[in-house]
Amino acid sequence: MKDLNANNQAKQLAGIAAAREVQSGWTVGLGTGSTAAFAIQELGRLVREQQLRIECVATSFQARMLALDCGLSIVPTDAVSRLNISIDGADEIDPELNLIKGGGAAHTREKIVHAMSDRFIVVADPSKIVSRLGAKFAVPLEVLPDAIGLVTRILSDMQIGKMQLRTGSGKDGPTITDNGNVVLDVGLNPAPSECAALEDRLNQIPGVVENGIFARYRPRPGDCIIGDPEAPGGVRRL
Ligand code: 5RP
Repeated sequence: MKDLNANNQAKQLAGIAAAREVQSGWTVGLGTGSTAAFAIQELGRLVREQQLRIECVATSFQARMLALDCGLSIVPTDAVSRLNISIDGADEIDPELNLIKGGGAAHTREKIVHAMSDRFIVVADPSKIVSRLGAKFAVPLEVLPDAIGLVTRILSDMQIGKMQLRTGSGKDGPTITDNGNVVLDVGLNPAPSECAALEDRLNQIPGVVENGIFARYRPRPGDCIIGDPEAPGGVRRL
């Protein structure tokens, strides 16, 4: 379970800086998690106090509820095919800006939303920077419940890492995603140059809806905003 209060100041600095990149008239993808939440709150403030006019698409139930609470206008994901910008957190960021996402089990909708975006900004605290993905987090696979036996068997045959079915909190049994599926966390440790091929390979397993490696859809250089109270302006950009 993630510690949602860890590095709060850095997360807030990153979230606020990202929200301030958004311009009136834009359609904005809203990420999931504690860092993206700071961006959503700042967007709400800008709408209320600075006449920012935006429409938003949410990557999860959590992001949608928070956005509505902050006074943001939400449009259904299936009503749009292109966004001006999206802002989201990450669990790990490697030197080539490949990501692991899905700590909140929202990576499928997150990938859809970021694939629609002209610009994808990642917001994070410094603890998310690693030299190689898999340093601290497993790679989550969203899996159709009926396919769990097959997916587990194929991954075992591939001998690519330890697996664990993610367990829910506040309920017995597995975590169920917003899409009604389960999450299998797989211990993987790809070098930056291997991430895109691994992302493709995992998605070829029947029953895997989406995996949490973001190499095909990663931020461009300069679009990873790392909150850092010591840095000028409170952020660094990777
Ligand atoms: C949710 C995600 C989150 O963006 C990721 O887990 C980072 O969360 P936080 O900002 O709370 O550390 O991918 O699926």
